[in-house]
Amino acid sequence: MPGTSPGMTNLANDTTQMTQTAEADRAPNAAAATAPLLDVRNIEVVYDNVILVLRGLSLEVPRGAIVALLGANGAGKSTTLKAISGLLKTEDGEVTRGEIVFDGERINGIDPDKIVRRGIFQVMEGRRIISDMTSVENLKLGAFTRTDNEVGADIDMVFRYFPRLKERTGLAGYLSGGEQQMLAIGRALMARPKMILMDEPSMGLSPLLVKEVFGIIKEINRDLGVTILLVEQNARAALSVASHGYIMEQGKVVLDGSADELRDNEDVKEFYLGGAGDQRKSFKNLKSFKRRKRWL
Ligand SMILES: Nc1ncnc2c1ncn2[C@@H]1O[C@H](COP(=O)(O)OP(=O)(O)O)[C@@H](O)[C@H]1O
Ligand SMILES: [Mg+2]
Repeated sequence: MPGTSPGMTNLANDTTQMTQTAEADRAPNAAAATAPLLDVRNIEVVYDNVILVLRGLSLEVPRGAIVALLGANGAGKSTTLKAISGLLKTEDGEVTRGEIVFDGERINGIDPDKIVRRGIFQVMEGRRIISDMTSVENLKLGAFTRTDNEVGADIDMVFRYFPRLKERTGLAGYLSGGEQQMLAIGRALMARPKMILMDEPSMGLSPLLVKEVFGIIKEINRDLGVTILLVEQNARAALSVASHGYIMEQGKVVLDGSADELRDNEDVKEFYLGGAGDQRKSFKNLKSFKRRKRWL
């Protein structure tokens, strides 16, 4: 039966109540050990003082996990990542309600470079590497907060994950789309972050490359213990590496569950895991009817 598996939570109606219950359930001294690395609590985000985009969004990312944040174009996924990384400020956006707690401390309102120093690195949508620099120069940029002398060793480490980057010694602008995505992920690793926020790493990649890049994302998570919040429209790819997923629509989480539960959920299958070709079309046609019926 769709939407009725035991661990599945419907957050659409009572986000506030959910949060309170979860907090009450935690014993005070158990809290530190079990607390998620990232805890986004009921945030509201407004652009240009008027455009309300996130309307009470909550999510948790446990330490060491890969969590997927899924949703159609315009749902507010990138806005969520920018709220966490502080980059909202650069677009005249602001968290107007709620709080973002990272590693036990509230981080909303803090400047993006300070958030990098606290251990969060965002890989922006569309790769955003510097095209008139080489791969090595791009990787060094990722290490801007570091003062240790192991930057060279970490460049070698990035090349072990992405060997083809090492072969390509020219300017990064000449790299293929897949290679640029790899370089963007490698640059994030150079900051030695506790957590990486990835915005649609599958975008513009062939299915084969998506598989390769996501395989490496999984390896990085496993080997280095980096926690990952993975934003994707490609739900199938994201749920293949994540342990848990959130689905958002119109600035809110409408459904969350383990990756297995989400893969088995009929609505998710229909809207997000449908045949690749006509997926968007069927989603648009069915969305309002189905949501009213099942999720709201
Ligand atoms: N800088 C901005 N100023 C005003 N509105 C924005 C800005 N960035 C995004 N939005 C709006 O916020 C909504 C969510 O956008 P976004 O977070 O980019 O969604 P997604 O990443 O899920 O596609 C969209 O309606 C978009 O038009
Ligand atoms: Mg986006």
